[in-house]
Amino acid sequence: MKALILSGGRGTRLRPITHTSAKQLLPVANKPILFYGIEAVKEAGIKEVGIVVGETKPEIKKAVGTGKKWGINITYIEQEKPLGLAHAVKISQDFIRDDNFVMYLGDNLIKDGITSLVKEFEKTKPNAQILLARVPHPEQFGVVELKGKKVLRLVEKPKRPKSDLALVGVYMFDKNIFKAVNNIKPSWRNELEITDAIQYLIAHNFTVRPHIITGWWKDTGKLEDILEANRILLDDLKTHVKGKVDKESELFGKVRIDKGAEIRKSVIRGPVIIGENSRIVNSYIGPFTSVYFKVTIENSEIEHSIILENSKISDIRRIEDSLVGQNVEILKSKAKPSAYRIMVGDSSRVEVT
Ligand code: DAU
Repeated sequence: MKALILSGGRGTRLRPITHTSAKQLLPVANKPILFYGIEAVKEAGIKEVGIVVGETKPEIKKAVGTGKKWGINITYIEQEKPLGLAHAVKISQDFIRDDNFVMYLGDNLIKDGITSLVKEFEKTKPNAQILLARVPHPEQFGVVELKGKKVLRLVEKPKRPKSDLALVGVYMFDKNIFKAVNNIKPSWRNELEITDAIQYLIAHNFTVRPHIITGWWKDTGKLEDILEANRILLDDLKTHVKGKVDKESELFGKVRIDKGAEIRKSVIRGPVIIGENSRIVNSYIGPFTSVYFKVTIENSEIEHSIILENSKISDIRRIEDSLVGQNVEILKSKAKPSAYRIMVGDSSRVEVT
């Protein structure tokens, strides 16, 4: 069994956060989303992992490396353009060869991992196994129509979904998927759709086994989803304090303070992570906040937010429900005339009181 993790494409929906960097590398609970996928396939006992990369290949390669730190072998497979999930499978044929494989979308998070699902696939030996979850807005996903345990139809982001069963971004295939991806045509959006490839398998009498998952799962495409993922993952946080906390500070609940971090005259109410070499001074950090590395927060209050590396927040009364990118400064200005002075990227949202 091999694994194919898809980490190509562009992060358009999270611009400007992912304008220059891969959306799969955005940290949730201070760990890049992609790493959760790598860990899930490793947990399932898979050692040969292909990562499909696009224009963000250098950053992904730099963050992930050879796989040695997880005890697995990683092969990078270049996709010239994001031409669809089935296209990613097609260009990976030399890597997969005749093996069975798990395809894992690099922006998906599955809290319970995939070990039992891989075992089930190996035991029941269908040609494909798809994971489904009931969602409130199926039109945002690939949607599946079932009749009993039989898969009837798969449609990619239908305007009028026929069910509330969305395709979760983890699929298991045997070599027959290559027949499918080599025979389907691009869709209206000019992508080779994995839904069409699976539909091809059904039409040609291959077995496609559905499995409805009930555990927590998230496609981290949007800000609300990222904050929710951060919340769910921080809930399982283990307390450890490796940085410095002065006597005037108080920590409540589950709090992780990483090496080199410093907390002075502050209140931290967990679950909260303060990353390496970050400084929190005279501030309040409230539940469900992840502060990445080399961040400075002074004279401010922050809750339910993610703050990325090298950013600085100073003299801000309160920030909530926010995602602050890398190298950002949010400061109180004494300059006259008093006004908001803002430099924000495209498609940003700023709410002021
Ligand atoms: O998250 C589940 C959904 O994922 C499914 O319900 C849909 O059926 C499936 O098409 C997919 O929809 P998305 O719109 O979320 O796919 P997205 O374009 O975000 O791509 C998913 C991952 O695959 C992401 O990490 C980028 C990568 N990718 C995507 C394409 C289109 C590639 O590596 N190459 C590609 O050509």
